[in-house]
Amino acid sequence: MSTEPATRDRDCVQFLQWCLPRLGYVWSGFRKVRRQVCHRVRRRLRALDLHGLAAYRRLLLRDPSEWPHLDDCFRITISRFYRDRHLWEVLGRDVLPELFRRAALREPPLLRIWSAGCGAGEEPFTVAILLRLGPAPLAERLELQIVATDLDAHQLERARRAVYPESSLQDLPAEWQQQAFTREPAGEYCLLAPYRQGVDFLLQDIRREAPPGPFDLILCRNLVFTYFDANAQEHCLRRLLARLSPHGWLVVGGHESPVSGDSRLVARQGEPSMLRRRSNATRGS
Ligand SMILES: C[S@@+](CC[C@H](N)C(=O)[O-])C[C@H]1O[C@@H](n2cnc3c(N)ncnc32)[C@H](O)[C@@H]1O
Repeated sequence: MSTEPATRDRDCVQFLQWCLPRLGYVWSGFRKVRRQVCHRVRRRLRALDLHGLAAYRRLLLRDPSEWPHLDDCFRITISRFYRDRHLWEVLGRDVLPELFRRAALREPPLLRIWSAGCGAGEEPFTVAILLRLGPAPLAERLELQIVATDLDAHQLERARRAVYPESSLQDLPAEWQQQAFTREPAGEYCLLAPYRQGVDFLLQDIRREAPPGPFDLILCRNLVFTYFDANAQEHCLRRLLARLSPHGWLVVGGHESPVSGDSRLVARQGEPSMLRRRSNATRGS
């Protein structure tokens, strides 16, 4: 017997409101994507041959090994190149030139960037394109390292292939699309080798690990400060700050505000999503 869609939606929302806090997530982050998440949860029920969310809840209560499978249902992977155009404009015009100047003084001259929750590479490759085609191109003698981490092996596999549908490129300036990609016979777009250079992908869960720092720029957008609860946010924020170089920038998503009133961080003037460690703030773990 099939259930009415509205009832199914209500049941699933109740289920999500029960289990999300137990995994360190907040319901508000998932409200808009609940259909996608509910679809995945139902697929899991079918795989377990369970009838209904009540039965699934009972299983979760008696079997802790099921929780990681449920956690997999909550990985939202939406991304695209040049997402939040304004942010990239500020980065290219103001922030990166300042970081270049500092990086050039090092021996060897090295600029390090971390994209945390990098999706299928759209974010780290946007940086790589901006660094070469943007208003202040990276000087030849500056070495570039972009470390891109994500928990989803499939996303990382896609990132290493660097082949994208047209919709992923819709926000990217047209001339950059033409310069940085070739069109495949099947209509997809393949990122050219020079823009992949210096970008390394790692499978990592930001709740537990991070690449060794320090980084001049850390992008952590549309992940920690949208989906994680306050406790998980704090743990991750400490981890991020511990990897940020003293004059580095932490960039969060355009709709995220992790730190209103946080004494460790100060936002760039007029740019609430670009944050820097206050000079007297202590370092985290
Ligand atoms: C909504 S996408 C955002 C991608 C990109 N940062 C952006 O803003 O366009 C979130 C990404 O974080 C990844 N992710 C989810 N949970 C994670 C975790 N615990 N550790 C690392 N990455 C995670 C997902 O696989 C997904 O690729």
